[in-house]
Amino acid sequence: MPPIAAPPRACVFDAYGTLLDVHAAVARHAARLGAQAAAVSALWRAKQLEYSWILSAAGDYEDFAAVTDRALGVALAAHGIADAALRADLLAAYRRLDAFGDAAPALTALRRAGIATAILSNGEPAMLEEAVDAAGLAPLLDAVLSVHPLRRYKPHRSVYALATARFACQPHEIAFVSGNAWDAYGAARFGFRVHWLNRAPQPTEYWLDRVAAARIATLAELPTLLGT
Ligand code: LAC
Repeated sequence: MPPIAAPPRACVFDAYGTLLDVHAAVARHAARLGAQAAAVSALWRAKQLEYSWILSAAGDYEDFAAVTDRALGVALAAHGIADAALRADLLAAYRRLDAFGDAAPALTALRRAGIATAILSNGEPAMLEEAVDAAGLAPLLDAVLSVHPLRRYKPHRSVYALATARFACQPHEIAFVSGNAWDAYGAARFGFRVHWLNRAPQPTEYWLDRVAAARIATLAELPTLLGT
């Protein structure tokens, strides 16, 4: 595809589900979970997101590491699994998730083209730092931004402004990439140039049909799309 616009000031990524594979934690301990592994992982992720949204809607806050632990407890209990050691191991694995294979090459290409790279994530700062270090992404990122100081989760409008503040620019000068449709929707509402990374692919949802959001199937498409 030809470039669609001038290169952005920065390309900002969601972390979990976009650069980092959230199902890698369960995959590492799949043998201990048996046939329920995929269902536990899916419920863990669904509950983690649901809790973040409920907290924001209620005007309450608990950091994302605690939310992740709470969600894991429910996902295991829902499948009749009461194994404290397994729970601890899964949680530890979540702090050191694998990066998707296309993450490092895309970040490298963008930076080589002079585009700053960043993460904007619901993750709390310590878990994000540990995760990007473990995945080998830390040297490829100009900034790792967490919603934590605002005590509010994406897709609340206010948190996307962390990126415009960091790069001292307007929303349309930022390319935002998320594998989470709800996040792509929120980011597009804020005014970012959004690329919804739809790896699976999943059906269009969360009012993404009402906003301007490009679809990509892999991060390898980004450097060309961003005009580099
Ligand atoms: C993130 C999760 C929610 O913000 O995907 O990184």
